[in-house]
Amino acid sequence: MKNVLVIESSPRLTESVSRALTERAVQMLESRYPGVSVVRRDLGRSPVRHLDEPTIVALRTPAELLTSEQSAQLQLSDSLVDEVLSADQLVIGVPMYNFGIPSGLKAYIDHIARAGKTFRYGADGRPEGALGGKPALILGARGGVYSEGPFQSFDFQERYLGAVLSFLGAECEFVRVEGVSLGPEVLAAAQKKADADLLETAALRGAKINLAD
Ligand SMILES: Cc1cc2nc3c(=O)[nH]c(=O)nc-3n(C[C@H](O)[C@H](O)[C@H](O)COP(=O)(O)O)c2cc1C
Repeated sequence: MKNVLVIESSPRLTESVSRALTERAVQMLESRYPGVSVVRRDLGRSPVRHLDEPTIVALRTPAELLTSEQSAQLQLSDSLVDEVLSADQLVIGVPMYNFGIPSGLKAYIDHIARAGKTFRYGADGRPEGALGGKPALILGARGGVYSEGPFQSFDFQERYLGAVLSFLGAECEFVRVEGVSLGPEVLAAAQKKADADLLETAALRGAKINLAD
């Protein structure tokens, strides 16, 4: 059975626009692929800790030299890496915070971007990501508009996530609700557009992967 790893990163548990979009995407995926397994990683509800010095030292220590204390330090990162590697499809709900992503999602990325586990550099010096073309559907919410207009160059939310996830070997698709802060009518229209955009994604068309297998 194929599994979808759903990563939520909004600290808002009730009013979140990205969570609502993610839920609609999950419902669409479940009805398109009955029986697909959904694994949830909720960074808003249960944040992962930031990297600290002992963890960074452990990350840089060869596996055969790790003390039992250092192995324990790496347990969280190891389990997050296993979880992301074993997913067939990633779905990531993400608010824009200060033109980028919330710090909770950044802390998560610091745990899963692991030299030798999720990426390495090939003989020609090029990065090789271990996610092996895994599809990642990135579902964003932002107060303003960044897909066009004067703030386009301020969008470090999609640009950063697209860069780091493709570095790790994922193939990213983006659907967004933007203009959330521009009034209820703009929000409703943006949500309607995002729902229509979801139906056009490779994930829902089964273009890259058939989650029913
Ligand atoms: C701390 C914080 C920073 C934000 N920074 C931006 C920003 O730089 N640009 C923007 O368009 N909206 C910004 N917003 C608005 C959010 O992107 C918007 O409310 C979005 O809906 C949040 O996602 P959520 O509804 O899933 O929590 C910010 C909101 C917060 C709480």
